[in-house]
Amino acid sequence: MAAKTTLDVFKVHEFVEALGVELPPVERFWKLGDATALRNRADGSFFRANYERGILLYALVAKHRPTSVLEFGTGRGYGCLCVAWAMRDCGIPGVIHTVDKVSSDESIRWPVRWNESEKPRVELLARAEVWRRTAHPGWLEHVRELTGYSAAVMRGFCGAPVDLAFIDAGHGHRTVQHDFYAALRVAADSIGILFDDYSAEDWGVGTRRLIHEEVLPHRNASLILTDRRWPGGERENQTDTSTGMVWVQCESLPQLLDEIQSGFPPGLFASGYRFWEMWYSLRIMVGQRVRQALRATCGGSRR
Ligand SMILES: C[S@@+](CC[C@H](N)C(=O)[O-])C[C@H]1O[C@@H](n2cnc3c(N)ncnc32)[C@H](O)[C@@H]1O
Repeated sequence: MAAKTTLDVFKVHEFVEALGVELPPVERFWKLGDATALRNRADGSFFRANYERGILLYALVAKHRPTSVLEFGTGRGYGCLCVAWAMRDCGIPGVIHTVDKVSSDESIRWPVRWNESEKPRVELLARAEVWRRTAHPGWLEHVRELTGYSAAVMRGFCGAPVDLAFIDAGHGHRTVQHDFYAALRVAADSIGILFDDYSAEDWGVGTRRLIHEEVLPHRNASLILTDRRWPGGERENQTDTSTGMVWVQCESLPQLLDEIQSGFPPGLFASGYRFWEMWYSLRIMVGQRVRQALRATCGGSRR
């Protein structure tokens, strides 16, 4: 297949509109986002960090009706819950397998605004607790949480062949590359893949590099301009086309895998990545233990 070398660019609401599906009122996405995706800046202000991803995921699920979705990076759960919400509303007997190194009962710093009448604040909360408060119990029937680093989890993955993936975990090139090939390895005959965080800035160069070096040579892809650019959003009129989310539809997967394998051995890469991931997670764990020990020692000497 002759693919283009540039991305087709769309504004998010135009892309969603073209899918021609019925959506819940947009305020319901903002409310869920305020509980599961709000972020804060160093100056103490809060912002709605790309809540459009939830609308986009909902619309993609309603349109393509996937029955096995794979998400890399559950985070606080906004994307995952929007997928489950769409499955529930559209009567899709599907499952979203969502992977994160942070477990659902681990408390983390959590910017949140519980309702419009309250000010946003930062609390210490665990995903399970917030989901109990904000998610419809019927949505959660569609969710399978997988805890661990992505390569370790994917070694034991035993879900049905995946027909939609959302890649939004580690954003370094190596990790995005791993998650992309891992999704292809467990894909059905065709799969749609949505990447978050395509950008020329630090946080998005890994995805950008993968898209230009390894996706566009084989398949067309669309850049969707998101992050506060929904009509009424604070960046609605921003014309910058260097950041957004990328959507790729991979039909005839065996042919795509053949094309990729001729220039790149994914099996060899996967084994190498697993070693790198073990080394990386070990360094993080040792760092945490050392910080805990130092805190205990300093705390002890003050008493
Ligand atoms: C940006 S958040 C995900 C947001 C989520 N997809 C959403 O739509 O709300 C990224 C998450 O990826 C997780 N993560 C980062 N690197 C990872 C890795 N190598 N394996 C598993 N999880 C990872 C982090 O713990 C974090 O919770």
